[in-house]
Amino acid sequence: MFIANLPIYKKLTQKRSQKFADYLSKLIPDNSSVLDFGCGNMYTAVELLKTLPNLKVTGLDVVKDQNLDDKFLSDKRLSFKLLTTKEIPFPDNTFDVVVALATMHHTVDPEYYLSELKRIIKPTGCIILIEEMYLHLLDKAWISSQDWLLNKMKAGVPVPLNFRSHKHYLNEFKKQGLKIVFEDGIRSSVTYMHVYVYKLTK
Ligand SMILES: C[S@@+](CC[C@H](N)C(=O)[O-])C[C@H]1O[C@@H](n2cnc3c(N)ncnc32)[C@H](O)[C@@H]1O
Repeated sequence: MFIANLPIYKKLTQKRSQKFADYLSKLIPDNSSVLDFGCGNMYTAVELLKTLPNLKVTGLDVVKDQNLDDKFLSDKRLSFKLLTTKEIPFPDNTFDVVVALATMHHTVDPEYYLSELKRIIKPTGCIILIEEMYLHLLDKAWISSQDWLLNKMKAGVPVPLNFRSHKHYLNEFKKQGLKIVFEDGIRSSVTYMHVYVYKLTK
């Protein structure tokens, strides 16, 4: 049995999502069309709608998370799309906001997906990237092992660990012409993780 089936796991992940939703609600204008890239169980989207009730959130993921409850999707403000191609299946300039919360390092090609996220935001839109970025190689080994363990608790989630350094991301933003309009760091109280937040525009 997967640990992600246990009520305690669901409770803890719900708590984490409440925390992130609270944080994100200050960065996202209500009424926005939002893509939750690598949405997982969509607990964060469900929590976000409690404070920003006029959002429209599309969740996109390569697997349907075992805890993504179909009853969430009966809410017309929420939808889920399975990603079956390498390209993100939305036209240019579609979303006001794209959120990538702890997703980039699980994609097969973070640089490509960053460019895809840039492509699908409107000219006035933004990307909110919340991502663990390492500072040195020991750090990389530590965050990779923790992350691998956490994700093995769930069924069927592919876990390539394509972490990148903080410096690499900063260079990549420049290379791709992404402007930083907000930056922050979230330190987890339990684990040694460098979680960076960037709000990016084109
Ligand atoms: C660590 S989980 C984060 C889930 C969710 N964002 C959260 O914070 O609760 C990473 C997610 O990214 C998804 N993922 C990996 N590659 C992806 C891709 N190319 N496109 C969309 N989602 C992807 C995984 O299936 C997984 O659900």
